[in-house]
Amino acid sequence: RHALLLLGATQAFVLPVQSKPSRVALNVATTPIEGMRPGTSGLRKRTKVWETTEHYVENFAQSIVEGWRDVGGFPASGSGTMVVGGDGRYFNKEAIQTFLKVLAGNGVKTIVVPVHGVVSTPGASALVRRNKADGAILMTASHNPGGPDADFGVKFNTGPDGAPAKEFLTEAVYEKSTSISSYNMVDGTVDITTVGTYTLGDSTVQVIDALDDYVAQLQECFDFEKLRNFIKKKPSLLFDAMHGAAGPAALRVMCQELGVPKSQLYRCDPRPDFGGCHPDPNLKWASELVRRASLNEDGSPGDSLGEELALGVAFDGDGDRNMIVGHRFFASPSDSLAVLAAQAKSIKWFKDRGGLAACARSMPTSRALDRVAEKQSIECYETPTGWKFFGNLMELKQPFLCGEESFGTGADHVREKDGLWAALAWLSVLADNEGMSVGDVVKQHWKEYGRDLYCRHDYEEVASEGAQAMMAHLGSLIGSDVLPDPDLESVSSFSYVDPLDSSSTENQGMILAFAGGGRCVFRLSGTGSAGATVRVYIERPLANPSDADLDLVASEALEALADKGKAVARLHAFVDREGPSVIT
Ligand code: G6P
Ligand code: ZN
Repeated sequence: RHALLLLGATQAFVLPVQSKPSRVALNVATTPIEGMRPGTSGLRKRTKVWETTEHYVENFAQSIVEGWRDVGGFPASGSGTMVVGGDGRYFNKEAIQTFLKVLAGNGVKTIVVPVHGVVSTPGASALVRRNKADGAILMTASHNPGGPDADFGVKFNTGPDGAPAKEFLTEAVYEKSTSISSYNMVDGTVDITTVGTYTLGDSTVQVIDALDDYVAQLQECFDFEKLRNFIKKKPSLLFDAMHGAAGPAALRVMCQELGVPKSQLYRCDPRPDFGGCHPDPNLKWASELVRRASLNEDGSPGDSLGEELALGVAFDGDGDRNMIVGHRFFASPSDSLAVLAAQAKSIKWFKDRGGLAACARSMPTSRALDRVAEKQSIECYETPTGWKFFGNLMELKQPFLCGEESFGTGADHVREKDGLWAALAWLSVLADNEGMSVGDVVKQHWKEYGRDLYCRHDYEEVASEGAQAMMAHLGSLIGSDVLPDPDLESVSSFSYVDPLDSSSTENQGMILAFAGGGRCVFRLSGTGSAGATVRVYIERPLANPSDADLDLVASEALEALADKGKAVARLHAFVDREGPSVIT
């Protein structure tokens, strides 16, 4: 009897067994890691840094959560929806799993993951917008190469607009990263290769086919019926997804929806190393497309291969950039933008809403767009480099078209530049200009609006000290009475005040203005992962181009002006290089 009583007493101290395992998040101690300040488009580092530095991904993930919560907009614990995906590059899946654990550890209620973790950047923006999510976190270093010895990056977009994080947010995240002492996480992994609903801690993870929302968005932008009829006429087209995230969407839209033969698309399977290529759609890296367009690497027309491409488009690693070519013709991104503005009536998104309300370009982008805006009597904004500056303008005026010299084109259908959108926009223009190729359309445009000769010289991965000293030297010329070149009219530093929130952004590049309207702009890249990259943007307007002017090769015609600008900047002395590494 006694023994029984004792037994009873002992049992009273046994805790009731839970039917489910404990959902309590772990709190893991850590210390700050230097250098987590996001650049133009997220935090980009060598993959090794992300992969081998202890707590690196976790620290950045927790800094995003806490920094974002501080400034507002990140869901409170137990609520909210976040999208997590990436461009498919090496370390994509591993980093996604870490983000899932940390987001679940911080109480995000629903996490949406595109199947295999692959979604293009514009596709992710569409996902956020159409699902009214609180934001997206994307594993991408855009057009930088991928692989264990290449680059990896993380960027984040806010909801419900799906726009890239603004500077006050990226700064708040950076600030957090300098004082972080622990992160929250739950244990477990999710099978992101299979569509379905999963549980992770107290969170629900929905693995979805992300193409549905994106394709629906594009269907609102373009007249698919018109495009299908155009494709039936068998125009010669070529699309190169460079083994990046645009591939699956390009296959679905171009082949399934519009009837483009599969043989006209290539490199559409996303690969961790982008098939060993540099997934940047420019004259240097989209070499196969350039060759098939019978072009030389400098953009000049080459020997005709026989195939007469009406339109060729290449996309970058995360599918937001585009390069447009046609038979023996390279359309510079600045010209492509101006042409789309001029032909806005061919694009359903603009036409159905009464034509363009306004447009914008980044400062280093050529002023070809301004001439179209002037004719249409619409506002043309000039912003600093970076897509995030367009977001507020799109809230002010819709429908809206914008673009950058860095192979970005887009509209207010999402809040990112959109490679596939640009391809469909060009297809729409060609459908309305029967029998013309890209080159025919652009040359006709130049005759009407004038031509802005344009090219860019890049000095990649030079020593930061020299590059900064060169910018400082240019700064010292501002307002100077004696400028080092007789044709140089002024030197100025570009700054910008946002018309919606009045935030100001300074030091966005040095503008050298020459007599006759020529310009050389000097800027340091904000997307590199090592050293500094100097970009020199050279531009000269031809108001009434002759037939011979239409055939000028921009890089050749601008050589003298480029030399003048570089001499003023003393570029070659400061960066210790004899010439640019890339000319586009
Ligand atoms: C990213 C941004 C673009 C920007 C570009 C500039 O691609 O999304 O908006 O134009 O970076 O890169 P840079 O290397 O010149 O800073
Ligand atoms: Zn990109």
